Amino acid sequence: MSFFPQGASTLAGKVDVLFLFVLAVCVFFSLLICGSIIYFSIKYREGHEVDRAKPPSGSPLLELTWSGIPLLISIGIFGWAALLYVNEYQAPADAMQIYVVGKQWMWKLQHPSGRREINNLHVPLGRPVKLLLTSQDVIHSFFVPAFRIKQDALPGRYTSLWFQPTQLGQFHLFCAEYCGTNHSFMGGWITVMRPADYQRWLHEDERKPSMAAAGEKLFLSYGCSGCHGLNSRVQAPPLEGVYGHQVPLDKKQFVVADDAYIRDSILLPEAQIVAGYRPIMPSYKGRISEDELLQIIEYIKSLGTTGAGPAGTSENSRVPVAVQNGEEVKRNLFPAAGKASSPKQ
Ligand code: CUA
Repeated sequence: MSFFPQGASTLAGKVDVLFLFVLAVCVFFSLLICGSIIYFSIKYREGHEVDRAKPPSGSPLLELTWSGIPLLISIGIFGWAALLYVNEYQAPADAMQIYVVGKQWMWKLQHPSGRREINNLHVPLGRPVKLLLTSQDVIHSFFVPAFRIKQDALPGRYTSLWFQPTQLGQFHLFCAEYCGTNHSFMGGWITVMRPADYQRWLHEDERKPSMAAAGEKLFLSYGCSGCHGLNSRVQAPPLEGVYGHQVPLDKKQFVVADDAYIRDSILLPEAQIVAGYRPIMPSYKGRISEDELLQIIEYIKSLGTTGAGPAGTSENSRVPVAVQNGEEVKRNLFPAAGKASSPKQ
């Protein structure tokens, strides 16, 4: 039993310094206030001879001081903590992504390579890892004390957090949100490995297709390719290079095509219609599982994220080319607002 949990991520030290600072402020003021109470109780106790002639009746300077100093300290703590918080939820661009689905009562994790785990997560040492979390039933919370990270996994939403391990070894993973009977058993281990060992571990199970490959299969089997495929005759926005880019919606609004947007487009397709397209896509709500959604997202991601500038805003954007009736048809990712072009023009 140790007083402090191990610190095994780049965030741990920073959180500890803040925690110790807050603790020091509390201890200092507790001692100051308790000490003063005891000192004055003894000095001015009944029957003790002291000078009680001129009790102080007010001092603006004193009052400003005892309001001003705590104000500055609390604003300082707020700013410091806010910086750490913002940092904890904004993963670096080169972070590797791992998908997490919470369910009563286990954590299901999947690596983009396709390898799956339950209640265990293997990660390489020294690399930033971003987790994308969701839940398929109730609210759970992904908590790794040694990394000083905690994030809720919410049904119907994606949340994320990131960490960079600084120590090899195994670290406890908990569910930190009461989620039913076996909540206390919903936990496991994070195993931090040497990068080479991690690569070996990742490819031990070669039979598993990568998440993107599994997603492509689903893309075909759910019939998505019938409309979004390059050779489809139905007019639907093509998905090549869309991930991570701005998508124009009607009414001159834009939205970034991130994980949450793709998820919403599959489950609530009428909520955000791409400019120039008709709301003809059926909802897949209730027909597709959380794991499958993540695989499809990984597939769409694999179709490319690097276009020239935000997609659809310049002539240089990636414009997929389809072959139809022997002719090359340029499929404009985003038909000019107003005139919806048909692939058969
Ligand atoms: Cu899941 Cu508590």
